[in-house]
Amino acid sequence: MKLIVVLSGAGMSAESGINTFRDAEGLWEGHDVMEVVTPEGFQKNPDLVYEFYNQRRRQLFDVLPNEGHRLLSDLEDDYNVSIVTQNVDDLHERAGSTNVVHLHGELRKVRSIVDEEYIVDWDSDLSKKDKDSNGYAMRPHIVWFGEAVPMLDKAVEIVSTADVVVIIGTSLQVYPAASLMHYVSQNTPIYYIDKNPASVTAQNIEVITKPATIGVNKAISRIKNKE
Ligand code: APR
Repeated sequence: MKLIVVLSGAGMSAESGINTFRDAEGLWEGHDVMEVVTPEGFQKNPDLVYEFYNQRRRQLFDVLPNEGHRLLSDLEDDYNVSIVTQNVDDLHERAGSTNVVHLHGELRKVRSIVDEEYIVDWDSDLSKKDKDSNGYAMRPHIVWFGEAVPMLDKAVEIVSTADVVVIIGTSLQVYPAASLMHYVSQNTPIYYIDKNPASVTAQNIEVITKPATIGVNKAISRIKNKE
């Protein structure tokens, strides 16, 4: 079976009701991004950052996967599908996708501030009172700006073996995630679905200027018609 690799960003979940990052002019859910998405922000005001991610985590239980997530999950009937997502929500998994790599971490996990390997599932609110087994504080399992991206090597490996790549709902502004498309083999077709796509130059790329739900449907039709 052919391998379809999906690279998804915030626009994938927009129609489920989760706000994107850059559609609100540097503000994310009313916050200056640098205050809540950096290690410095966490050091300066941990309570604000805990509360910010607590709100994001709570919101997850109020939203549902959209038609785009569902179509990608159904694609596993006919193809090998690997999803590399920048999203920290679990909507791909809840739609039924079975191979999902989270480049920027996961809202439903938290980890020790000292031991990066100490990662636990977490569905309730987190605060500075929560500790790992050695008594160190816990933090959201999120890759903040300026931090290493542990899943990057795995993502590069997946992308470089793709037969088809589908990029969905990302402004392609955040590195190293945006650099992943440079690892796509030369003759591999790329479909880039976005309501307001970034300008991209790559061989074999078709830009589909549509919301994710409609665009995914279109891209799948194109992929199936080409066989
Ligand atoms: N369908 C498709 N695309 C959409 C939709 C939609 N319904 N709504 C918005 N978009 C597009 C926007 O046009 C934009 O190109 O989604 C993209 C969202 O871009 P960003 O907000 O920059 O999100 P993303 O690219 O995922 O951000 C990357 O930035 O803050 C960090 O770590 C965070 O993972 C995040 C990273």
